[in-house]
Amino acid sequence: MSSKEKIRQLRDMKFRSTLGGGEARIKQQHAKGKLTALERLELLLDKGSLVELDRFVTHRSADFGMADQKILGDGVITGYGTIDRRLVYVYSQDFTVFGGSLSETQAAKICKIMDLAMKNGAPVIGLNDSGGARIQEGVDSLGGYADIFLRNTMASGVVPQISVIMGPCAGGAVYSPAITDFIVMVKDTSHMFVTGPDVVKTVTHEQVSFEELGGALTHASNSGVAHFAADGEEDALFLVQKLLSFLPSNNADDAPVVRSEDDPLRTDEALDALIPDEPNRPYDMREVITRIMDDGDFFEIMQNWAANVLIGYARLGGRTVGIVANQPAVLAGVLDIDASTKAARFVRFCDAFNIPIVTFVDVPGFLPGTTQEHGGIIRHGAKLIYAYAEATVPKLTVITRKAYGGAYCVMSSKHMRGDINLAWPSAEIAVMGPEGAVNIVFRKDIAETANPEETRARLVADYRERFANPYVAASRGYIDAVIEPHETRPRLINALEMLQNKRDTNPAKKHGNIPL
Ligand code: HXC
Repeated sequence: MSSKEKIRQLRDMKFRSTLGGGEARIKQQHAKGKLTALERLELLLDKGSLVELDRFVTHRSADFGMADQKILGDGVITGYGTIDRRLVYVYSQDFTVFGGSLSETQAAKICKIMDLAMKNGAPVIGLNDSGGARIQEGVDSLGGYADIFLRNTMASGVVPQISVIMGPCAGGAVYSPAITDFIVMVKDTSHMFVTGPDVVKTVTHEQVSFEELGGALTHASNSGVAHFAADGEEDALFLVQKLLSFLPSNNADDAPVVRSEDDPLRTDEALDALIPDEPNRPYDMREVITRIMDDGDFFEIMQNWAANVLIGYARLGGRTVGIVANQPAVLAGVLDIDASTKAARFVRFCDAFNIPIVTFVDVPGFLPGTTQEHGGIIRHGAKLIYAYAEATVPKLTVITRKAYGGAYCVMSSKHMRGDINLAWPSAEIAVMGPEGAVNIVFRKDIAETANPEETRARLVADYRERFANPYVAASRGYIDAVIEPHETRPRLINALEMLQNKRDTNPAKKHGNIPL
């Protein structure tokens, strides 16, 4: 073959690679409201930064007529590029090539970039759009999945891993995204399930649609599998970019510092009037957070699942902080099973990646009831205690109102190595709420008096004055300072700076045994 012919052939090969499974299938992809694998990467990465690897890889299967059907790249684009000029490793499955199904060689391509990401300390972003294991390849494909699961696990806590689901993600294939740190799903066009609607119908006789079984809203509000439900593919990729802006590239790195015009010494008098006088009146903890953080920016994660606890990222004086906050506006901010697991995994991510944690506390306790007890609130609540206790990053706590019972201990208390624990004057720190406490301790006395209701009210008022305030805890040193709400921002920024070089360790061990 002459060199001219060789060059022409190479050009043709590139052409085919870009076109994936061909124009007709690309049209089908677009008709479903989906972009191609390459179009997605072009949106995600800085313009022109994609460097593709393994573009010439094809599958090695000869069964079922596959020998004649080789498409360059084998259904996935892998490589690296930059987002906001920071290195990331990417893979993007191409549904137009055998439905994006995972072959042995597709898996090897994905593993290669995961290995590179771990060696070079940069996040991995996987864009998933696949019919699952390449049926024609059998166990070679299954082995490929296992190879990826292993790397997901090894990379956990080393580099951030983000999965974007942009089409089907079914069967065992769901477990790679499930091990990663964050899952972004696209409303209407992405689905995740272990078994699809047909199998469900056969086995359990339930009739359920794709969307209801495993759509973005299902996983972002019912199951807690997805962290974000995006309005479209562009929105999904934007969420990834925004999320990454808060994160370090690896576990030995610090998150980027993004200075803003927002004065670190800014006070906010509106905070002084934010807590209602009635102890059981709800208020929105989001408002507390946005009034304190740089530019009022709070990037909330898992907004629609376990909404009684808020988690997300923000910046204080330009530095990323992870926020965990009870939300009195939902279920009075009580801790239940879902809230505990949601906050626990978030705390562990922050700790693994050197992100200081700011905890806002207004919690009446753990949720009572058979549903919670039989569902294992003991086991799940323990996750949050464990996560906070083992975390060695700077831990700042602000008690705005209630910190009752076990929930006081859990929510980054001084006893769990909280570094700076602040309380507003409205804080109530006690074993339980005044009504419950009085009913237990003074039950007999109340029953024996001439006017039980009056006696109960007097005892409740007395208890509130003696215990439902921050001063007993402050007198023990469990609260470092009782501060005016308006000064919370400068106090937190000051504390963060003081803790900048914090060093703390846990005993040497292979690993702990977090209650799962
Ligand atoms: C090989 C596949 C494939 C697969 C789809 N295709 N899935 N090829 N292996 N797993 C091919 C189709 O043959 C078709 O090829 C093209 O991709 C597009 O598929 P369609 O069915 O036309 O698309 P659509 O109607 O959009 O349906 C998408 C789908 C469906 C819902 C994903 O294709 C499907 O149900 N696929 C099988 C899913 C599955 O059961 N996978 C195995 C799961 S078990 P042509 O040439 O016609 O365009 C698993 C185990 C993992 O994944 C274990 C890990 C531990």
